[in-house]
Amino acid sequence: MEKKRLGVLVSGRGSNLQALIDASKKDDYPAKVVVVISNKKEAYAIERAKKENIPVYVVKREDYRSKREYEEKIREILLEYKVDLVVLAGYMKIIGKTLLEAFPWRIINIHPSLLPSFPGLEAQKKAWEYGVKISGCTVHFVDEGIDSGPIIGQRAVLVYDDDTPETLAERILQEEHKLIVESVKKILTEEYEIIGRRVVFKKKGDENI
Ligand code: GRF
Repeated sequence: MEKKRLGVLVSGRGSNLQALIDASKKDDYPAKVVVVISNKKEAYAIERAKKENIPVYVVKREDYRSKREYEEKIREILLEYKVDLVVLAGYMKIIGKTLLEAFPWRIINIHPSLLPSFPGLEAQKKAWEYGVKISGCTVHFVDEGIDSGPIIGQRAVLVYDDDTPETLAERILQEEHKLIVESVKKILTEEYEIIGRRVVFKKKGDENI
């Protein structure tokens, strides 16, 4: 099986990147990380990529005059590595028109809440403060909004009375690692349609969808 090619955009720790790298080592996993791009030179994700001999680029917004030029550089790298799917794994910038148009419905993001609840920063803390009893994580297609695109998959995590924002975030993170791996696999191996906001997976033998 020829593995599909993932380009992963990061800004920090890179544990979701690591989950994808680990999954890709299995022969039957349909994808491999071929390039990592970070907008922060101090991101620990860079070390993870280097350790695996995955090409890694630092592309910083402040080095470019406009968002368009910044994203053109990222686009150039992603095209050079012929990526089939772009994964935002803790990438802390909003994706603009340049990348959205270059990879239509080919950019996905992982977010640490059950969207549409708690989009944006510090989602786990916001969920904890709100007092929800169930939180979780979401993988979704990226559109022009913030954490707003069609949902590919979600995993639920119970909130315990003695949780802190940190313990909750840690349990959500464990589920994120599973969800990102299973979502990438689904997108790359199953047939689906995006109908309005709904990502509808076509079941085998179901000709009506
Ligand atoms: C994760 O919680 C992810 O959902 C959010 O940013 C965090 C990144 O963590 N978008 P890591 O860099 O993958 O460890």
